[in-house]
Amino acid sequence: MTTLLHLDSAVFPQGSTSRDVTAAFVTAWREQHPEGRVVYRDLAAEPLPHLNASSAAAGAEDALRGELAAELADADAVLIGAPMYNFSIPSTLKAWLDQVIIVGHNSGPDGPVAGKPVTIVASRGGSYAPGTPREDFEFVQNYLEKVLTGMLGAEVDFIVPELTLAHSQPSMAELIPLADASRAQAFTDATEKAKALAARFAA
Ligand SMILES: Cc1cc2nc3c(=O)[nH]c(=O)nc-3n(C[C@H](O)[C@H](O)[C@H](O)COP(=O)(O)O)c2cc1C
Repeated sequence: MTTLLHLDSAVFPQGSTSRDVTAAFVTAWREQHPEGRVVYRDLAAEPLPHLNASSAAAGAEDALRGELAAELADADAVLIGAPMYNFSIPSTLKAWLDQVIIVGHNSGPDGPVAGKPVTIVASRGGSYAPGTPREDFEFVQNYLEKVLTGMLGAEVDFIVPELTLAHSQPSMAELIPLADASRAQAFTDATEKAKALAARFAA
């Protein structure tokens, strides 16, 4: 049975681009794997505790960390909604990463996450694309790519719906066509990437 681990971390349950795009990904994935399993965690609605001294020291022996690490190891593919907050990832997603990455247990190029495909929907209000004035302020894709490949050896892919604030910020009104195009592309990417990924696990 094929398993997709799906995490969302946007604080708003409604009107969230990352939630809408991850949902489209899951719909396309389920069409390919009607018998498959989708394990879901809403990190905003049910935040994980921060790592503390005892859980950091216990590693995989800590019940929660062991559960999260097993959930990640058991997934064939991972989908993460990661909106940009203050140029970086939501603290709830960072809490998941700090809990789930256990050096000596699931880290490194030979660990259980090595080669595992991780698709990230990185929504953001502005644009941090190469050549834009705030290119250097991008700490979502840069960080997630490095931590997931560098610590876990995962295979990371991004879907980036940008300029999501264009419709609500008058100063961004002229960017609405670009925002709409980015949103449409994100849904197309979600469907295509989910289908392509699902095909890799076809029995
Ligand atoms: C607390 C907070 C901080 C934010 N910080 C940024 C930011 O640094 N850069 C940016 O482009 N957008 C920022 N935004 C806007 C969000 O990235 C944007 O609304 C995005 O669409 C949120 O993701 P979602 O639509 O998946 O919920 C921020 C929004 C919130 C709520």
